Amino acid sequence: MAKLKKRGAIFISGWGSNLQVFLDNKEKFEQLVVVSSSVEAYGLKRAEENGVDSIILGQPIDWKALNQSLDEKQIDFIFCAGFMKIIPSSFIKTWEGRIFNLHPSLLPKFKGLRAIERAFEVSDAIGVSIHHLVAEVDSGEVVLQETAFEKESYSGLSIEEVSQQVQSVEHQLVKQWIESQTLSQ
Ligand code: GRF
Repeated sequence: MAKLKKRGAIFISGWGSNLQVFLDNKEKFEQLVVVSSSVEAYGLKRAEENGVDSIILGQPIDWKALNQSLDEKQIDFIFCAGFMKIIPSSFIKTWEGRIFNLHPSLLPKFKGLRAIERAFEVSDAIGVSIHHLVAEVDSGEVVLQETAFEKESYSGLSIEEVSQQVQSVEHQLVKQWIESQTLSQ
C-alpha cells in the first residue's frame, strides 16, 4: 500500500523542543511549515536550521490570511506545540478534526495554564495528552495519553526535575503521534 505523506503546520510560541521532534522526523511528511506567534521564538531558528519554512504571525493575528496561506500550501493538519495564543472558534471550526494540541496533563484533569505545577502541588498523577483542539480550552477528544508520574510517586523531586521528565514524555508522545500519522493509508 502506498504511503501518503501529509503536509503539516506546527504552531509554536517559544522554545520548540516538541517542534524539534517533528523536524527530526521531517522526511515522514510531504511538507512541514512552522507558524510562530513570536518573532523571538527559538523554534524559528530550529526551523531555519532544518530548511523548513516558517510564518511569523503579526499582532493582532490575521487569522483569515493565515488560513489562506495554509490552504495555499495544502496543509492537512495543524499541531499546536506550546502555542500560547487563543485561537478563534471560527478558525478552529475550519480545521475541525485536523487540529491537535499537546497538553502537559492527564486530561480531563488540569486543563489550562500551569498544569504541571497544579498537579505537583497536590501530588496528583502527572502526564501528557495529545487531543483534538476544540473551542473550549483543552476539552477535545484525547487521542494519545501517557503517564509520567503516578500519584504521590515523585516526593523528593523538585518541580524542575518533574517538569523535565514530563517534557521527555511529551517528546515520546509526539513521536508516537507522528508514527500514527505516517502509517500506510
Ligand atoms: C509544552 O510543555 C507543551 O505541553 C505546552 O508548552 C510546552 C512547549 O514546549 N503546551 P516546547 O516549546 O515544545 O519546548
